[in-house]
Amino acid sequence: MKIIHTIQELREWRKTVSNVAFVPTMGNLHEGHLALVKRAKQEAQYVVVSIFVNRLQFGQGEDFDKYPRTLEQDAVKLRDAEVAVIFAPDERELYPNVAQNYQVEPPHLQNELCGAFRPNHFRGVATVVTKLFNIVQPDVACFGKKDYQQLTIIQGMVADLNSPIRIIPVDTGRAADGLALSSRNQYLSEAERTEAPRLYRVLRDMVAKVASGNHDYVAHERAARQELETHGWVVDYVEIREQGSLKVARLGDKQLVALAAARLGGTRLIDNIEFDAA
Ligand code: PAF
Repeated sequence: MKIIHTIQELREWRKTVSNVAFVPTMGNLHEGHLALVKRAKQEAQYVVVSIFVNRLQFGQGEDFDKYPRTLEQDAVKLRDAEVAVIFAPDERELYPNVAQNYQVEPPHLQNELCGAFRPNHFRGVATVVTKLFNIVQPDVACFGKKDYQQLTIIQGMVADLNSPIRIIPVDTGRAADGLALSSRNQYLSEAERTEAPRLYRVLRDMVAKVASGNHDYVAHERAARQELETHGWVVDYVEIREQGSLKVARLGDKQLVALAAARLGGTRLIDNIEFDAA
């Protein structure tokens, strides 16, 4: 396994191989990331994993500075997973002019759901992912469904801009109690960690209500929000939307997704469940 820090070296390596799958990450890898790598290995002969904490997608007061940088431990995991290359550029390598004058502007969806609470976040994601795609030039790229809105925006970007990259959505990895795996889980106190799986439970309850034939989505959203707030969460949103477009769900939509983002103490958690309307 090579650890490459410069764009030039990555490009040199890329000329020597075909059939590349790509997993972009910000490092601090857990089982969820390794599931992406495993899937990537099924798709192509060579897997490249990028590790880059992208300042552009963090807002003021978010955890850019305290985001764990753990390259050494990550490299051990990725070597065991038989990854071909780790691409770990520093900020000067990826943003040499500091100001990234040209950025990728996603459509209005970037201002909804998580975007309503994290201004410019998805512009930062779309910009860095485009840069990484241009550098790595993968045939396929794997993205986790946990970041559902990110996945939707990247799928839309690749389709609209005719990028020759196949995007592979990978199911969310979960702890035994249902909590979605996330690098941010490590910020939770013991009590918060016990409480955290409620986020997944309220989403499951919403799905169960729809499955039983109750299509009053707004009432389900309100009940879920109330349940979380009663247990100390600060809720950004709990919503049922249409899969794919992420438009607000309407009666008659067949494929839906229940999504939530809420803060427990200082930690913001997100989760979602795809489901078919009964
Ligand atoms: O999902 C993430 O870890 C990041 O948003 C990504 C896709 C690596 C871009 O920085």
